[in-house]
Amino acid sequence: MASSVEEGSELLIYVDRRRKWIVRVERGKVFGSDRGTARHDDMIGREVGSSIELSAGFKAYLLRPLLIDYLERGFARRTQVLYPKDMGLILLLLGIGPGSRVLEAGIGSGFMTAVLANAVRPSGKVYAYEVREEFAEVALRNLRRVGLDRFVEVKIRDVKQGVEERDLDAALLDMPDPWDALGAVHEALRPSAPIVFFLPTASQVDKLLYRLREFGGFIDVRVFETLLREYRPVPGALRPETVMVGHTGYIVFARKVLKEGSS
Ligand SMILES: C[S@@+](CC[C@H](N)C(=O)[O-])C[C@H]1O[C@@H](n2cnc3c(N)ncnc32)[C@H](O)[C@@H]1O
Repeated sequence: MASSVEEGSELLIYVDRRRKWIVRVERGKVFGSDRGTARHDDMIGREVGSSIELSAGFKAYLLRPLLIDYLERGFARRTQVLYPKDMGLILLLLGIGPGSRVLEAGIGSGFMTAVLANAVRPSGKVYAYEVREEFAEVALRNLRRVGLDRFVEVKIRDVKQGVEERDLDAALLDMPDPWDALGAVHEALRPSAPIVFFLPTASQVDKLLYRLREFGGFIDVRVFETLLREYRPVPGALRPETVMVGHTGYIVFARKVLKEGSS
């Protein structure tokens, strides 16, 4: 990756913790903010990590956006999406890495798909099932923007009607009624593989627990909730932010075992 700012590349323009923007650098364009403006032409060729002075005298740093920058301020959002605080734990529970083959349903706005694709590349694949084509299109646009679409195969299909793949390494179900997909997903996973569910309400978790018990092909069931508190990093005045994300959803984990008489 080039160490200087190139025309057509995306930059994170950083003024302070609250003032960060992802910008595509194009000749002739002007960046505008409440801290002043800057011509894109004056950014091209500068070293990434260097700063420029905005028209109002404020300093702005030219950084490469991280995936979390896109999740926080770059991607289009058409559905409820997973938050970074939950994504980290989900990734660990799924146990995936380069080369893994993962099932996801639904794709929503593709926020989690991007994180999964980033984990399984360069040789793995995310099979992302989605019933609403318009959401899948938004998700694909987000994935293309960060160059992760080639690690994802989108399927406009109801996951409850069956999964086409076999011997998958892991599955993530972020959809309202995952209990109706247990049979289809169980068939698609390799024995011992993890499955993770994300559900916004406790009553859904309760229903899932009953249905998992009834189904019988999953063990080691665990339920988590993550709380993340960000701090104001001010020397001499370190304190938590006043407002935090109070609730997103519950994470339920289980792993596939063979049902008697099945494979
Ligand atoms: C909350 S969104 C997923 C958000 C996604 N995890 C993200 O981070 O952007 C739930 C998605 O599941 C899709 N969905 C619901 N039922 C489904 C099913 N049976 N099969 C496939 N997708 C389904 C919905 O259309 C919706 O896009």
